[in-house]
Amino acid sequence: MNTPFLPLSKPSITEGEIAAVAEVLRSGWITTGAKNAELERTVCEITGAKFAVALTSATAGMHLLLKALNIGPGDEVITPSMTWVSTANQIELCGATPVFTDVNRHTLMVEADMIEPLITERTRLIVPVHYAGASLDLDPLRALAERYAIPLVEDAAHAMGASYKDQPTGQSGTAIFSFHPIKNITTGEGGMFCSEDGQLADKIRQLRFHGLGVDAFDRETQGRAPQAEVIVPGYKYNLPDMNAVLGIGQLARLDAMNQKRAEIAHTYLEQLKEIDEIEPLQLPEYKMKHCWHLFVIRLDIERLAMNRDSFMQALKDKQIGTGLHFRATHTQKYYREKYDISKTELPNTEWNSERICSLPLFPDMTMEDVQRVVTAVKEVIAEK
Ligand SMILES: Cc1ncc(COP(=O)(O)O)c(C=O)c1O
Repeated sequence: MNTPFLPLSKPSITEGEIAAVAEVLRSGWITTGAKNAELERTVCEITGAKFAVALTSATAGMHLLLKALNIGPGDEVITPSMTWVSTANQIELCGATPVFTDVNRHTLMVEADMIEPLITERTRLIVPVHYAGASLDLDPLRALAERYAIPLVEDAAHAMGASYKDQPTGQSGTAIFSFHPIKNITTGEGGMFCSEDGQLADKIRQLRFHGLGVDAFDRETQGRAPQAEVIVPGYKYNLPDMNAVLGIGQLARLDAMNQKRAEIAHTYLEQLKEIDEIEPLQLPEYKMKHCWHLFVIRLDIERLAMNRDSFMQALKDKQIGTGLHFRATHTQKYYREKYDISKTELPNTEWNSERICSLPLFPDMTMEDVQRVVTAVKEVIAEK
């Protein structure tokens, strides 16, 4: 019998969630409406955020944020290179300049003392990333941002269900979550802009739907008043209700799904600890709750005499999927050619960019699946 392919990730969707989506499809109202409002309310309840605006993606959230803050040519935004390309792309598309910071070599997260030397009079925004589901060390980052009076917005794409010093991610400040299918909860595609700043949330809400003075959905009329007026030119990033309803079902299972992710991650940590050629990311020492979005290992490519891409291919040959989170943004063609950042400028980012690899991690994985991954990893190393 052929062994089935084990993917890096697979969304966990229940029959109840499928039925809820079907119900919206049959209801006569499938775009932004009551289910969006419920999803936003539920995210506020779970995270403690004061305001939440549902969007079609986290990338849309970053785009609207840059617009809401009026960031454009001549402005600089500090963000790690070790992240998904969407942040730098949006900064570029606004005509501003991404200023790439290095990250901690073993957590892949930005620290305040790495950011401070990069601050100039042009710096308009700082976007650190809660990496892989661990929380950033927010106190020093917030103190730095406050000292220089620069907005700090957390990229929380990986962090639904994480917390820092008992405070859920998204509760204070401003954070943008992603609900892409690989994430801890999904709406198919989607994202959520959370903020304690009501004015900023209102701007995002307005820009999300053409810049109209009222929302897409009026609870009284079950529609949008045709007289709605454009206050500023806006975009079209509103989430359909058929997506939002899936997110409501997913959020009801967030704790259970994250608990399963944690069990899998701890099994990996235990079973891989004897393998010298592999080093998982380190857990931060400050108090935080990991929501285990990703399980990232680094390969000792010198000792293995094998590069990361060959390692990924060898696992694929054994029917195991892996991922790369991330190839550093500054090494991508466009950024490499435009900014020509030297190899030594972001040493921890460069070092990890060549060595990282994400192993399968998703709630519906069985412990037999985890064993398959561990066995395959050991075989690849033994066969090198
Ligand atoms: C760190 C990080 N930021 C932002 C994003 C963008 O999220 P979305 O796909 O919802 O636009 C991702 C997506 O993978 C991500 O990993």
